[in-house]
Amino acid sequence: MIYLDNAATTLHKPDAVKKAVLEAFDTLGNAGRGASEPALGAARMIYGAREVLAEFFHAESANCIVFTANSTESLNIALKGLFSEGDHVVTTVLEHNSVLRPLYECRERGCELTVIGCDEKGNISYEELEAAIKENTRAVVCTHASNLTGNMIDLRRVGEIAGRRKILFVVDASQTAGIYPIDVQGLGIDVLCFTGHKSLLGPQGTGGMYVRSGVKIRPLLSGGSGVDTYDPFHPSVMPTALEAGTLNGHGIAGLRAAVGYIMESGMDKIREKELSLMRCFYEGVSRIPGVKIYGDFDAEERCPVVALNIGEYDSSEVSDELNVSYGIVTRPGAHCAPLMHRALGTEGQGAVRFSFSHYNTKEEVDSAIKAIKELTE
Ligand code: ALA
Repeated sequence: MIYLDNAATTLHKPDAVKKAVLEAFDTLGNAGRGASEPALGAARMIYGAREVLAEFFHAESANCIVFTANSTESLNIALKGLFSEGDHVVTTVLEHNSVLRPLYECRERGCELTVIGCDEKGNISYEELEAAIKENTRAVVCTHASNLTGNMIDLRRVGEIAGRRKILFVVDASQTAGIYPIDVQGLGIDVLCFTGHKSLLGPQGTGGMYVRSGVKIRPLLSGGSGVDTYDPFHPSVMPTALEAGTLNGHGIAGLRAAVGYIMESGMDKIREKELSLMRCFYEGVSRIPGVKIYGDFDAEERCPVVALNIGEYDSSEVSDELNVSYGIVTRPGAHCAPLMHRALGTEGQGAVRFSFSHYNTKEEVDSAIKAIKELTE
């Protein structure tokens, strides 16, 4: 099998991650629930993971890191917990449904929403984004990269606009955390939502958010926290304020090891390998007549993703054929990115997305190019 669906989830994880999860199964109790060695061990491990992620994203404190199950949960907590009736929010057509659907729910409850469009390559206009900000604008919410095209949004530019216009800046880093450095303080990010199972190379069911000190988010969940049991209300101290119930300690142990692996291996090295495989694939398939590729390949920075179509073939048929006849795994269809597909005119056909990991090889890329070539003949 040639696995080229790493934007959905990375299949191959570092050995250190597997080892950490197995060790956690043998050792971890429940953090904050008692003072036994297993309970304290879990608390220490989880706090250590917060410290590692705080360093990784340059957060001001480990207490700014909240653990969740994935980006979707983080985004739901952030968006539903920040916005109220009368607030205006600016977002973009690049967004995944994990941003759009919570924002549509906010709109049902009286928020106003402006969605910035894109050009034919799938890039937004920063002037248009700034022009959309008005008196009652509370925040700009955007992804760091489109999960369909791999195009990136310049967080420095958006952060500068948000800072100057004194609005909140919420970022969905699902597609970039682990391959691009994100300095939350340097970029003026108020809330960063990330998932553990993609480029961070951790287990599924892990993720989290950075919340800048002082940013108040109404909790989505309340319940057990291990402390203040007789208080009828959930603790308001961070990060417990946004974490209710037993955390995924086993997964967090894996995520901590994964971030350690990335730091040790060098994120730049990992990204360069992935981008070079992506470039090689792009150059190979762009020469094949009948292949249409989406996104901006002239941009300085992008994600290791190539979305394409072959003539008028339905993307699911192409992806099935790649899987069944060539053992190549891709993701077809709409990718939970309805507005991006609509903007590119691929609502009906979808697109076949190839996404690369540093565990992929040049030989695998060559096989994928050959397969596409054969499917066009
Ligand atoms: N959001 C993930 C993707 O892009 C699942 O495939």
